[in-house]
Amino acid sequence: MADPNLGDHQFGGVSTDLKLSIVEGYLKAFTTALRPRFRELVYIDAFAGTGERTVAHAAVEANLWDDYTPARIERLRGSAKIAIDIVPPFDQLLFIDHDARHCAALRALKDANPDRRIAVEEGDATSVLGNILSSRNWAGRRGVLFLDPYPGRPFHPLPPAGLRDWRVAAASRRRTLQCSAWRRRR
Ligand SMILES: C[S@@+](CC[C@H](N)C(=O)[O-])C[C@H]1O[C@@H](n2cnc3c(N)ncnc32)[C@H](O)[C@@H]1O
Repeated sequence: MADPNLGDHQFGGVSTDLKLSIVEGYLKAFTTALRPRFRELVYIDAFAGTGERTVAHAAVEANLWDDYTPARIERLRGSAKIAIDIVPPFDQLLFIDHDARHCAALRALKDANPDRRIAVEEGDATSVLGNILSSRNWAGRRGVLFLDPYPGRPFHPLPPAGLRDWRVAAASRRRTLQCSAWRRRR
C-alpha cells in the first residue's frame, strides 16, 4: 500500500501560489505556441519536490462571526503535477530531486500516469542536468527547464570541477542562446 505521507512536502506561502500559477501560465503558452512546430516538447524539473505542496492550516477559535475551525492539511499541486496537467501536453517529463523520499513520491506520480512518458532521476541537479543536456540531441525538440531550489540555498549551475564539466555548462548556455535567437526571429 502506498505510504499516505509520501507526498508530504511543506514549503512556501502565498508567493509560492503566485509563482506556480505564473509557471502554469507560461507552460501552457509554451506548449500551445511550440506544439505545431516541434516534434517533441520536453519539461525538465530539476528541483521537482514531490508533485504536491502540503499546507498546514492552524485551528481558528470561534468568534462573533465564525464557528471554530479545526486544524487541517491542504494538499495543492506542485510543479511536477502542474506540468503533467498542461494541455497541450508535454511529450516527455523529467523530474529530478536529490531527496530519496521525494523521488519515491515522484515515482508514485509516474505510476499514476502510465500513459505519459515520465522519468524520475534521483541525484544532484547539477550533475544530472549536465549529463542530460550534453547527451540529448535537441534537433526537432524544445524544452522548458524549471529551476526551483529552496530559498537561501541557491543553485550553482557551474560545478567546481574540471574542464569536462565546464564544457557541458558552455554547451547548455549555447543552447539557451539558440532558443533566444529563435524567439527573436519569430
Ligand atoms: C522548493 S522545493 C521544489 C518544489 C517544487 N518545484 C514544487 O513546486 O513542488 C526544492 C526541491 O529541491 C530539492 N533539492 C534541493 N537541492 C537539490 C539539489 N542540489 N539537487 C536536486 N534536488 C535538490 C529538494 O529536495 C526539494 O524537493
